[in-house]
Amino acid sequence: MDDIKYKANVDYGTPKSVAEKQVTLNIDGVDISVPEGTSIMHAAQLAGVTVPKLCATDSLEPFGSCRLCLVEIEGRRGYPASCTTSCVEGIKVHTQTPKLADIRRGVMELYISDHPLDCLTCATNGDCELQDMAGAVGLREVRYGYDGENHLSSAKDESNPYFTFDPSKCIVCSRCVRACEETQGTFALTIEGRGFGSKVSAGNKDFLESECVSCGACVQACPTATLIEKTVIDAGVPEHSITTTCAYCGVGCSFNAEMKGEEVVRMTPNKDGGANHGHACVKGRFAWGYATHKDRMTKPMIRKRITDPWQEVSWDEAINYAASEIKRIGAKYGKDAMGGITSSRCTNEEVYVTQKLVRAVFGTNNVDTCARVCHSPTGYGLKQTLGESAGTQTFDSVMKSDVIMIIGANPTDGHPVFASQMKRRLREGAKLIIADPRAIDLVENSPHIRADYHLNLRPGTNVALISALAHVVVTEGLVKEDFVKERCEWDSYVVWRDFVAKPENSPEALEKELGVKADTVRAAARMYATGGNAAIYYGLGVTEHSQGSTMVMGIANLAMATGNLGREGVGVNPLRGQNNVQGSCDMGSMPHEFTGYRHVSDDATRALFEAAWGRPLSSEPGLRIPNMLDLASEGRFKALYCVGEDIAQSDPNTQHVTHALENMECVIVQDLFLNETAMYAHVFFPGASFLEKSGTFTNAERRISPVRRVMAPKNGFEDWEITAKLSEALGYPMRYSHASEIMDEIAALTPTFKGVSFKKIDELGSIQWPCDDENPAGTPTMHVDEFVRGKGKFFVTQYVPTTEKVNAKYPLILTTGRILSQYNVGAQTRRTKNVEWHKEDVVEIHPHDAEDRGIHEGDWVGITSRAGETVLRAKITERVQPGVIYTTFHHPESGANVITTDNSDWATNCPEFKVTAVQVTRVNQLSDWQQHYKTFSEAQIAFANKKLSKNTQQPA
Ligand code: SF4
Ligand code: SF4
Ligand code: SF4
Ligand code: FES
Repeated sequence: MDDIKYKANVDYGTPKSVAEKQVTLNIDGVDISVPEGTSIMHAAQLAGVTVPKLCATDSLEPFGSCRLCLVEIEGRRGYPASCTTSCVEGIKVHTQTPKLADIRRGVMELYISDHPLDCLTCATNGDCELQDMAGAVGLREVRYGYDGENHLSSAKDESNPYFTFDPSKCIVCSRCVRACEETQGTFALTIEGRGFGSKVSAGNKDFLESECVSCGACVQACPTATLIEKTVIDAGVPEHSITTTCAYCGVGCSFNAEMKGEEVVRMTPNKDGGANHGHACVKGRFAWGYATHKDRMTKPMIRKRITDPWQEVSWDEAINYAASEIKRIGAKYGKDAMGGITSSRCTNEEVYVTQKLVRAVFGTNNVDTCARVCHSPTGYGLKQTLGESAGTQTFDSVMKSDVIMIIGANPTDGHPVFASQMKRRLREGAKLIIADPRAIDLVENSPHIRADYHLNLRPGTNVALISALAHVVVTEGLVKEDFVKERCEWDSYVVWRDFVAKPENSPEALEKELGVKADTVRAAARMYATGGNAAIYYGLGVTEHSQGSTMVMGIANLAMATGNLGREGVGVNPLRGQNNVQGSCDMGSMPHEFTGYRHVSDDATRALFEAAWGRPLSSEPGLRIPNMLDLASEGRFKALYCVGEDIAQSDPNTQHVTHALENMECVIVQDLFLNETAMYAHVFFPGASFLEKSGTFTNAERRISPVRRVMAPKNGFEDWEITAKLSEALGYPMRYSHASEIMDEIAALTPTFKGVSFKKIDELGSIQWPCDDENPAGTPTMHVDEFVRGKGKFFVTQYVPTTEKVNAKYPLILTTGRILSQYNVGAQTRRTKNVEWHKEDVVEIHPHDAEDRGIHEGDWVGITSRAGETVLRAKITERVQPGVIYTTFHHPESGANVITTDNSDWATNCPEFKVTAVQVTRVNQLSDWQQHYKTFSEAQIAFANKKLSKNTQQPA
């Protein structure tokens, strides 16, 4: 199997077989050995013989409907379909005989006689498998004519914003239906009717109204122009393509940006992508139009005060002004009154140069990243227990899981491509446990999937749950003691064991606190501990709590105790939110760590960086984002360089954040758009989109993937170049000529990246760190023979209820999350047609709570917390439990973070976004904050003198 060389961009017709046993056969005179179970079509392609096909493609199981791929096998009667016939030892196959040619021409005649003859004007002319096959079988005439009964006048469905469905061109090959089932797992399409009357149907609805989630898998699978991207209709067939990586979520899908000149025509997921294997979601595949949106800022701007209009200036003026302000503030208030914030939307290289600028040039460790507000507890908790701040597996590992436990994550919305893979494993029979206050789609709203246990705990009680699960494992004798003895610190295990075994940690004792029946918790614990390979996947529903770090450690404890680490199918898997959360943390953008999670107080590490950078470095950890904001509010923090991060929208307690920003003397924002933070800025550096720069992103499985420039930056520079210019103006030239040289420096200074280079990434497609002399091609599964810290360490995880309590004034708990079509603060997705699916944030409320308050569907309701008030429309649903409300935070005017509080994780200050005590009442006007926001943002847009778009929500 390993000897078989697969070529990029070749369709082998059917999926690879992974069987160990090889069989040898002869195809058109060529001997070939393939794994047992390989189809003849696949083997033929490997042997360099292309068999005509229409209904087969190698991303889907063979179907055998078009009859174009027939072959002859010596000694066998008939003409078997090569896509559905497996190779057998010793057979001799003929794929090109006069008889086969006759049959294939006949098949094609039938298709073409019911197909529009508009190839020359068709948008996919030159990129159509039907057209190719007509050529391949040598079809010159259609004996049946074109006037018989046909489907040529069938109406088009253009409802989906991104693709059209033109049934007049459909050959009913079912590739779309199978893609929706097998690849995406949504089951939105069927073939209705029989014989001539059979047709593709999205459940008798148009695509937009149907169950379709617009992943585009059907469009990609369609061999004709029936399902086709609207951008291809507009721009025509692409001319060249460049492989790059999605700039949205932590799945890190690989794409081929298919181009016409400098224009992107479509983004096609890369079949060889290690994280996505040719699949994508609506965001990565379709929602890239923001890169050319009219709101893009492309000129630098400066101003003295935030009440002044912006002045467009040259790059030199902007850089020099920013540098002079930093020098002035450094001289007046000291270097610790300044800092920087990097973003997980930036490339590794951009994050690296930003933290280098802050540490080596500003002279302070006041640099932090947006991971502070999402996965900083993951970094802390996994480092403490396992020794490395990263997830333990590849995504593919899930295909070997027998039990999947999802805690505080919503993969179908947040990590859709991985969710599709997980759903495939669940349809194969893996068991599913979901711990979430809300009934996410995977509980029972995904076709052919139903959670075995839904632990719908009360928000804020995660740690009590993990103790209760551990209690069952320990007290019912389900611990894998051999694993613990061999791999873990026994003493720490004993202390933990004795702790979780206490009666107060039993499911019965915690039943009321959790709001989950003790029997259900017991059954889930038994399933996790005894069901075979068990893997935990978790998200921000774990980390964004006052005990986020404790819960991460609790998860690691449970995995160690049950021996579920160090091989495929198991593990502790944080589902990282943004594309480069893992990378931004790896790159030393936390105030206490250099690259590779090495503490700034470590003399040897600091000496290494001092020698490389030629500047003295501080041994004191710097300020975290909340510390910077607190000090700014007190007038003691004065200058901020904020690259690609929108703290005014994404951080908690908005009014505190904006007050802090107003108090600073120099806020420099580098971004694609005039974002919420930029409205409080004095210098604006326009940034480059992911299509306009080179670098790398590191996804949730530690996979470093290439980001490659497919068009020139509209602002003139890649983002690392802007940082380097600022550095030079501050007297410290950074002498890189390309992003690859930054990665070379990272590799030279970071043991886990030692073997990483752009050249190697391009050769291998991607690399999962650690990549060093021992693991030159990277490390898919971590902690295989021993944990990175040597022995795994158990930590006692005492449950401490949050101080954010419900009471008579604030009787409900607000929890937040995100949805499929929008992305985080929405800066990108709001500037795409994805708004058609989610035009505004709404608040979900249980029917009982709504009825108590006289609230009806669609009413405007005021949500008041100890931090502030905002107004949203109500959506009444049983997805949330009584006493809990839920909203998203994709639109700035929603003010979701006006109501979230300053409470945060004890170890990392990650905000407790998931628990806010609130009251909800019917209202008929915007909150004071929203009214102020509307006036302020309109004035700021006017200051930028641009016709920028603003979503507005107005109570009726
Ligand atoms: S829409 Fe395309 S993929 Fe689906 S049945 Fe028709 S031709 Fe085949
Ligand atoms: S776009 Fe995706 S979800 Fe929609 S019908 Fe096609 S495959 Fe199914
Ligand atoms: S799953 Fe994530 S990485 Fe993949 S296409 Fe969607 S947003 Fe992009
Ligand atoms: S490709 Fe084999 S039957 Fe269609």
